[in-house]
Amino acid sequence: MTTETKKLYLDFLKLVLVGAVSSEVQHEFWQTRRWPYIDHIQRLLAEPPHWILLNGRNWPDRGHTMIGLLRLNNLHESLDHIRLNAIPGDFLEAGVWRGGACIFMQVYNKLYDMDRRIFVCDTFNGMPGVELDRYPQDHGLEGTFGLCAATEDEVKNNFILYDALDDNIIFVKGLFKDTLHAIPVSRLSLLRADGDLYSSTMDIFTALEPKVSKDGVIIIDDYFAVPQCKQAVDEYLNNTNQTAAIVTIDWGGVYYHK
Ligand SMILES: C[S@@+](CC[C@H](N)C(=O)[O-])C[C@H]1O[C@@H](n2cnc3c(N)ncnc32)[C@H](O)[C@@H]1O
Repeated sequence: MTTETKKLYLDFLKLVLVGAVSSEVQHEFWQTRRWPYIDHIQRLLAEPPHWILLNGRNWPDRGHTMIGLLRLNNLHESLDHIRLNAIPGDFLEAGVWRGGACIFMQVYNKLYDMDRRIFVCDTFNGMPGVELDRYPQDHGLEGTFGLCAATEDEVKNNFILYDALDDNIIFVKGLFKDTLHAIPVSRLSLLRADGDLYSSTMDIFTALEPKVSKDGVIIIDDYFAVPQCKQAVDEYLNNTNQTAAIVTIDWGGVYYHK
């Protein structure tokens, strides 16, 4: 398979993951697990996506990720950067909802024979409550409790729809503060932080940022969307005497190379 074909497949996969194609196209893909013909993909890609799906501005009914096409494109480019520069380490997303961003990582992993592990980390029970005695910075975010609930079985089934569940996928269930320190991983090439809260973001960075390889990619989904998330990242970088060349992806997300 040529690199151009792989790119077209991955661009089609993004449309399916956000629900930017018809439910007929989605169901045929999930049922047959076969890529459509190239000319069909090209026709689908020629249609401009709705701005809501482009920018990840909703929680799509028919989608498996809410990050939108621009942040999926950033994920795609990040994986290209890791592959082309042979950056060592596994991939990890903390805050997965229905798992779509991790599914994208795994389909890429398989198409390019990268054989990286993908850690899929969440409560699988929705957003945790804020702990204002531990992190008063989360004041104002009390109303997020229980949002974005998707069970581990639901996420596993979503992986199965894309023929993406194998031994490389490792589910890590529980609160980040209890689970992330204990994950059996020594190096990450990609860390995708999508936990929204100050507490969740700080817990992700404290446990995992030191494990990111040099020139590995750190993506923060909510940097501009949730002020408390930006505050956690900025304070972590300041506390660890790091400067990061933070790049804007869209209205909410940013990334930097370590
Ligand atoms: C905005 S959603 C993630 C969206 C997802 N990345 C996607 O592709 O659609 C946030 C997720 O973070 C999880 N989460 C937030 N804080 C957490 C914490 N402290 N521990 C475990 N999971 C957490 C929630 O359960 C929720 O599934």
